Amino acid sequence: MDILENSIIKECMSMNIILMGPPGAGKGTQATKLVNKYGLTQISTGDLFRKALSEQTKYGVIAKYFMQFGHLVPDDYTIEMVREYLKENTFENGFILDGFPRTIVQARELESIAKEFNFTIDAIINLDIPQEKLVSRLSGRRTCKNCGTTFHVEFNPPKVTGVCDKCGGELYQREDESVEAVTVRLDTYNKQTRPLIDYYTMKGTIININGDQPMEDVFKDIEKSLEGK
Ligand code: AP5
Ligand code: MG
Ligand code: ZN
Repeated sequence: MDILENSIIKECMSMNIILMGPPGAGKGTQATKLVNKYGLTQISTGDLFRKALSEQTKYGVIAKYFMQFGHLVPDDYTIEMVREYLKENTFENGFILDGFPRTIVQARELESIAKEFNFTIDAIINLDIPQEKLVSRLSGRRTCKNCGTTFHVEFNPPKVTGVCDKCGGELYQREDESVEAVTVRLDTYNKQTRPLIDYYTMKGTIININGDQPMEDVFKDIEKSLEGK
């Protein structure tokens, strides 16, 4: 099989991926690359909560209280929102769960949702990065108000300061990027989400990727790990 044929097959395949990692690890950045390359749909629970918040829907009102201080939104609401989203949408080429599950309870519920809706999770990717690198990633991030594209003042700066390269929208800093909220988010991750790594390691399904390298290299490693999936 030649390289072109192989890449066409790869780009047409359907797969469902869980993308895990601490706050600022690069989940959103790598999810965007996976969307562009494989036509997957990104399902970021953080983005869904922020959208719900801006639209003042039920989930938004509940989530605001927890998100602004860096705590997890309670499992019941989060699971219900994801369940609804998976039920109401179709994913021709598959999806990436970006930031879900984040607790063992969520992971178990996802397993029963998968049985109920008859889908499989084909890869669980964990972006591994030392904690001390995360604060600068988070404090330097800028997000487009209009299209959600993320930049970094140092590592991935926009062409014009404060302006989105993609759509010209205004760039802003998220509410949960204050030093206090970031500290709580990292602590929450260590207590509630890190145990998931052991959970999936014991099941033998986790793929650890070194997230502490340039974005393109992280993506290359992810691509390699997906070969044959
Ligand atoms: P969410 O929005 O998911 O936030 P998070 O997990 O804290 O992760 P981030 O989005 O901050 O980081 P990221 O890993 O996507 O990194 P990014 O690619 O942007 O969740 C927010 C909140 O919602 C939670 O705190 C919680 O309250 C709630 N929530 C969400 N899901 C939930 C759930 N399942 N259960 C309960 N509550 C939930 O990159 C960060 C920056 O670094 C960017 O500026 C980027 O340009 C830069 N960067 C990325 N990769 C690299 C690289 N390789 N080198 C240099 N810079 C890089
Ligand atoms: Mg994100
Ligand atoms: Zn934009």
